Amino acid sequence: MKSSAIASVTAYECLDSRGFPTVAATVTLQNGATGSAMVPSGASTGEYEALELRDGDSERYLGKGTLKAVENIKEKIAPVVAGHDALDQTALDRKLIDLDGTETKSRLGANAILGVSLAASHAAANYLNIPLFRYIGGANARELPVPLVNVINGGAHAANTLDFQEFMIVPHVSTTFFENIRCASEVFHALKKNLKKKGLSTGIGDEGGFAPDIASPTAALDALIESITDAGYEPGNHVSIALDVAASELYNDEKGKYVFKKSTKEEYTAADMVEMYAGWAKKYPLVSIEDGLDENDWDGWRLATEKIGANVQLVGDDLFVTNVKRLADGIDRGIANAILIKLNQIGTVTETLEAINLAHKNGYRSVMSHRSGETEDTSIADLAVAMGCGQIKTGSVCRSERTAKYNRLLWIETFLAGSSICENPFK
Ligand code: PGA
Ligand code: ZN
Repeated sequence: MKSSAIASVTAYECLDSRGFPTVAATVTLQNGATGSAMVPSGASTGEYEALELRDGDSERYLGKGTLKAVENIKEKIAPVVAGHDALDQTALDRKLIDLDGTETKSRLGANAILGVSLAASHAAANYLNIPLFRYIGGANARELPVPLVNVINGGAHAANTLDFQEFMIVPHVSTTFFENIRCASEVFHALKKNLKKKGLSTGIGDEGGFAPDIASPTAALDALIESITDAGYEPGNHVSIALDVAASELYNDEKGKYVFKKSTKEEYTAADMVEMYAGWAKKYPLVSIEDGLDENDWDGWRLATEKIGANVQLVGDDLFVTNVKRLADGIDRGIANAILIKLNQIGTVTETLEAINLAHKNGYRSVMSHRSGETEDTSIADLAVAMGCGQIKTGSVCRSERTAKYNRLLWIETFLAGSSICENPFK
């Protein structure tokens, strides 16, 4: 048997950043090399995501236990992948997909499957004694992503009055990640000072951004502009702004309208929403809007793409769910111009890479992303560099499950010793 063949697979239930359980897996190869991974978990999940298997046993973790997924890894997956060459990720992932046999990975659970898929890629990189980004991206992988740093949290990620989920700053003051993340940190601290001055809370939400009871989305945007300036940077020139509306959370199917349920209870049509975004794109250095419309509102998405798609990056998260079929459909229909990439929405490394490749081939941008429920796993930092995504969304510059990814990118930049680039994708 090859020394890179899988010798054993094990798994356990561990904690995510919200204190709920998730899945951790370790793959060991014949030569003793190991790879480990932890699976993240979303709160504002898309309707079409692969299935996250939960135990449903109300006696444990409020029904959110992951022992079934762990058991599936140990009892069902481990025997099937034993002896498989970890260096052949594609064939391994196909094997996992076939073993599950369902469209949404509902038999074994996408959390079980991804744990093994990702752990195997780490084991393969360790076997070759190279970093994960190099194993997946090759010698030419040297583009560091610009971070989309979520400094104000709302929506399903915070117990405040803000309907929109994420207000992000996009630092592009330099062509190094090292300087861009410093800039983000300085703006974050200026924002803290500003919120305090306004008598607003500086407590944080699930992704480490502040979660104040700020009056409206425009008040949040104004606070960002003020803080960018206070920190000594020029809005637009040095730091841009990105939003994740997570509009599927606002959409009311019966009414066919977007309802600001956490604040004013105002109702908006898709056309109203698009008009609002168009106005903001003129007033603010707004370069990217994610999930500005509901995941099933393709007409709304088309309108947004026609009206502002030429000037603003329109990112499909719940819309595409890292799924090549949904993305291909969107490309055919001319919907959106970028895709958010979340490994656990689809459930294997191979399918994730396929989604990125399909996007890039068709002139769509890709944004590598964490979930609101995260762990110390830093795989997405490596994947962003490996695939040349150019952008990463991994929360604020506090909470260690967020900074772990930024710190890994700083490590990669240091490892590349001057040959890396970190360019503003919005020039
Ligand atoms: P989620 O949020 O992980 O709760 O889905 C992240 C996002 O919507 O981008
Ligand atoms: Zn999103």
